[in-house]
Order: sequence, then structure tokens, then C-alpha cells
Amino acid sequence: MSKTAGKPIRCHAAVLWKANTPYIIEEVEVDVPKKREVRVRMTSTGLCHSDLHFQEGIDEKWPFPSIIGHEGAGIIESVGEGVTSVKPGDIVVLVFESYCGECDYCKGTRTNLCQKTPRNHLQMDGTSRITCKGQALSQMQSISTFSEYTVTHEANVAKVNQKANPNTLCLVGCCIPTGYGAVMNAGKVPKGATTAVWGLGGVGMCVLMGLRDSQAGKIIAIDTNPKKFPLAKEFGATDFLNPKEVDDIPKKLAEMTNGGVDYCFVSVGIVPVMEQAFMASHPNWGKTVIIGLANIGETMRAGVWELLFGRQLIGTSYGSYKAKLAVPDLVDKVVSGQIQLEKLITHRLPLSKINEGFNLLKTGESLRAIIDFDMKG
Ligand SMILES: NC(=O)c1ccc[n+]([C@@H]2O[C@H](COP(=O)([O-])OP(=O)(O)OC[C@H]3O[C@@H](n4cnc5c(N)ncnc54)[C@H](O)[C@@H]3O)[C@@H](O)[C@H]2O)c1
Ligand SMILES: [Zn+2]
Ligand SMILES: [Zn+2]
Repeated sequence: MSKTAGKPIRCHAAVLWKANTPYIIEEVEVDVPKKREVRVRMTSTGLCHSDLHFQEGIDEKWPFPSIIGHEGAGIIESVGEGVTSVKPGDIVVLVFESYCGECDYCKGTRTNLCQKTPRNHLQMDGTSRITCKGQALSQMQSISTFSEYTVTHEANVAKVNQKANPNTLCLVGCCIPTGYGAVMNAGKVPKGATTAVWGLGGVGMCVLMGLRDSQAGKIIAIDTNPKKFPLAKEFGATDFLNPKEVDDIPKKLAEMTNGGVDYCFVSVGIVPVMEQAFMASHPNWGKTVIIGLANIGETMRAGVWELLFGRQLIGTSYGSYKAKLAVPDLVDKVVSGQIQLEKLITHRLPLSKINEGFNLLKTGESLRAIIDFDMKG
């Protein structure tokens, strides 16, 4: 048993006191894990655009103050009563959708959602395990990875290949399953299909790796930032488009394909881009997969006649994977080199530089900036 087990831990975390303010590094108290819960010493966390969307107020009902972050990996420090799937010392990836294995959703194959996932950013018993200055902080998706230690339910951690590097493994917590699974599970792209990807960030690059592994025919990479194109090419993109240089993207794509793209993926959170992708998909069978987020409650236009004649529109959360089950296989693909995780990481920072990390994402300078909790500074 670790020396810290059974007692609250005082450590540092990046706290968001309200929307549209910077993170403040605070000393927080992380409680002992309760029944079926685990306490994790975080080793790495990625800065995903979803965190930025929530910091910028995409959800006006977000429970502030909060510790956000949902792409993380760490080492189990201690476990609560009744935990069976992990033990202290195990390297784990935190998963932002729980898998209880017992509810109808988990037992079925029609969704990757779990009915026990609390949708209020707390633990399953309706409380938080992290406090700051005596005040409870909400825990994003019940995992809150922007903290040196966190507590979550064992349904939110996946034990993975112990040869993996915990200081970079965070990316298997979000962008890898999200992008790769969008192709494998939501798109189900057959060999030879024409495809297009809007938004070549961490998520979009993982879409490209999924398309490459599905042996898609044409893979058209679309981004307003041409600095993303060289890596996209390494991941298998065959053609490149910059929307700033092309007036009518759907028309251009129809010319480049057989009248429209077979499979479109939108890994950027801009509604007009989602509408553009839908109209660029083949009019009689094209499928558009939405990955990017939008303000809660926002809608996108999809013409009724376009749907009647065969265009399809779907969305995917977490690449439609039951993440606790799928993440170990994805980590094996990272360890074997099939998924090139290291190439996605452009910046490594200590927790104290988290605001700089998000600035790099906003300006388009980084692909994935990650926090390495073992870095001092
Ligand atoms: N569905 C899910 O489960 C899930 C999971 C993770 C992330 N996401 C969402 O996926 C999106 C991408 O996340 P990310 O971390 O890769 O973001 P990112 O900021 O790293 O990448 C977005 C990319 O889109 C590009 N872009 C901006 N405007 C564009 C335009 N008009 N046309 C084409 N490209 C444009 C940017 O230059 C950037 O390269 C975000 O909206 C994020 O919230 C969804
Ligand atoms: Zn994410
Ligand atoms: Zn469940």
C-alpha cells in the first residue's frame, strides 16, 4: 500500500473559477477514494479543443468552479473498497464515458454511452472528491485530469499495456479513440472509398490514421492552416485543400471525386463547416460524420430532400467506442507503432504553463500540447 493511501492528498491543480478566465494553479485537497473508486496520480494530460470550448462557455450551465481536462493517463495510487479491475501501481488511461458493464446500455451494442455516467461532472454518488479553499470543485466528466491527483470510479479507468509510456499516453484518453473510432465505428469506411476530413488538429490527424488503416482511396485533408498539411501527408492524406483559397468547397470536392465525397468527417467545432461537409458528400449515398462540438442547443441545417435522396448524417462521441474496453487495444497499437502517438505531440509543458499551452492551441501553433506532470516548472 502506498504511504499516501487512506488520507486526503494536498497537491496542485489548474482550477477554472468561471468561464472565459484563465486557469489558476491552486492547492487542492483530493479525498480518499470511496467504494468502487480509484485515486490516480496523473502522469500526463492533453489539451484538447473540447476543454477550450468549455473554458469559452460552450455550456452556459457548466458547474463552476471546476477542474476540467478529460484526456489523461496516470498511475493508480490507491483504491476504494470493492475495486477489482485495477490495483495500486497500474498504468491507466482515464476514460471520459464510464463503462459500468451492468446497465442496459453497457450490456447492449447500440451505444457506447453508460446509463450510470453522471451527467453533472460529479461522482456517481453526486459529490466531488476535490476541494479548494473548502469549496467543492466539479470534476469534468467525473475524471478532471488537470490535477496532480484525481479520484474517479473504476468504470472510468482502463488498465493498459504496462510497457506504454505514461507520460505521453494521455492521448489515448480522447483524440486517438475519437478520431480513429469515427472512421472504424461511425463511418465504417470501406476500402477504396473517397473521403475528406475538415480540421487537422489532434482529432483530425487520428481520423487520417483510421482512413489510412481502412485503405480509403482518396483522402482529402482540409484545413485553413496549411502548416498542418505535411503531417497530414505523413498520415496518408492524398490531397489538400485550404478553404481560404477555394470559393466553393462542395463544388471543388465534387470535381475531385465522383460527384461528391463518399465519407466526410468534420473534426472542427464550426457549424457552417459541418453544413458544408454535408453538402460536399455524395448526393445519393455520401455519409457525413460530425465530431466537432458546438454550443449546447445549437442546430445545423440538413435539407430534407438531400436526406431523401440519400445523403446520411451522423455524429459520434468518443469514436463510438466503449472506451474502457477499447482503449487497451488502442494502446497496444501505440506500443506496436501502428498509431504514431508521439508525432501528434508538438509541445510538452509542466502544469504551471497550462495557459500557455491553450494559447498554442488557439493560435494554431501546436497540434497537441500536453502537460507532463513529472516536468518541473
Ligand atoms: N465528439 C467527440 O467525442 C469529441 C472528442 C474530442 C474532441 N472533439 C471536438 O473535435 C474538434 C477538434 O478537436 P481538436 O482538439 O482536434 O481541435 P484543434 O483545434 O486541434 O483542431 C481544429 C483544426 O481545425 C482547423 N480549422 C479551423 N477552422 C477551419 C475551417 N473553417 N475549415 C477547416 N479547418 C478549420 C484548425 O486550423 C485546426 O487545425 C473540437 O470541436 C473538439 O471539441 C469531439
Ligand atoms: Zn477531447
Ligand atoms: Zn453502464
